Amino acid sequence: MSTNLINDLFNKLNCDVPIWFLRQAGRHIPEYFELRNKQKDFISFCLNEELVVESTKLPLKYYDLDAAIVFSDILMIPWAMNRNVRFSKNFGPLLDPMIPGETLIKKNVSIKKKLESLKRSIKSLRKDLPKSKSLIGFAGAPWTLACYMIEGKGSKDFVNTRKALWSSNNWFMELIETLSFYIVEKLEIQAKAGADLLMIFDSWSHMIPNNFFKECAINPIAHIVQTLRSKNIHVPIIGFPFKAGSSIIKYSYEAKIDCIALDWTVDLNWANKNINKNIAIQGNLDPASLIPVNSLDLKKNVLSILEIMKDRRLIFNVGHGLTPDCKIENVKTVIDIVRDYKG
Ligand code: CP3
Repeated sequence: MSTNLINDLFNKLNCDVPIWFLRQAGRHIPEYFELRNKQKDFISFCLNEELVVESTKLPLKYYDLDAAIVFSDILMIPWAMNRNVRFSKNFGPLLDPMIPGETLIKKNVSIKKKLESLKRSIKSLRKDLPKSKSLIGFAGAPWTLACYMIEGKGSKDFVNTRKALWSSNNWFMELIETLSFYIVEKLEIQAKAGADLLMIFDSWSHMIPNNFFKECAINPIAHIVQTLRSKNIHVPIIGFPFKAGSSIIKYSYEAKIDCIALDWTVDLNWANKNINKNIAIQGNLDPASLIPVNSLDLKKNVLSILEIMKDRRLIFNVGHGLTPDCKIENVKTVIDIVRDYKG
């Protein structure tokens, strides 16, 4: 099943190595600010049908990309769950922190109603974009959403989340289950509206204690994928266990995903040897290599990724989001190298 879905996608894209960039629609493109300033806060921006359509298409005006990622945020699920999500300037996200043991709103939040504008944006994008461009819908993984919801903000070590895992394990696993339910709903809405690729971001999977990795990062993703399949959703799904180290091998076999995204710390020779051969790989250029004006080893690094991955399905990408100081010229250079490559 996995290989077929990815093969279908590659055939549709009609190129050997498709390319897009994590956070391609954000702050490294000056026009983004013009759009962003049309709404006072980030949530209102994410809920505005037209601004979402425009910002999703923005990077395709600049670059020859194979995919657009719908402009939204992983924290739209906690927002829909009334966790008072807001984005404060220079600080990042803020939420009302959850108290371990507190009553969970299980399955009665209407994600479909609250994210109605996302559905409309995707429908409109699918009409606007050529068939040869993939449209990516996404969600945060349950663990990563739980991290923000318990901590109430970003953190360097998410110690309150880890403490809750140890002290209130039943509650914690119920939270993971509740979030998985809403994640399925959000991904389902996006696929039904026209997203032809889905991605699940586990940005804080490297915080999971090793003995809980299967329970918190692998099983919930496998469950989400299986549930989507049982709902007749057959678009490829990319999993991103960010900086999860050697745990990515088990993840690649057991999370039931069609493609694994690799961060920039992963040794590609090791990954190529050990990752499930039935799934595709996405990644893993260091986004920091796109910041310097004369990024000397850029060409060498891009070619090295292409060479190592030449015998398997690769979606070229960065190993984490483009930063605001990333240079447009560098992104163009990378795309040219990938397009010119004859493996
Ligand atoms: O271009 C794209 O990739 C599309 C949109 C997108 C955003 N967030 C827009 C955004 C995507 C795919 C995300 C995912 C996301 N959001 C993740 C997973 C990926 C990762 O980075 O690990 C996470 C952890 C979040 C949570 C989040 N959203 C944080 C921590 C922040 C603040 C930090 C920051 O980068 O500013 C955001 C805000 C956010 N989401 C911005 C953008 C463009 C910046 C806010 C702004 O421009 O006003």
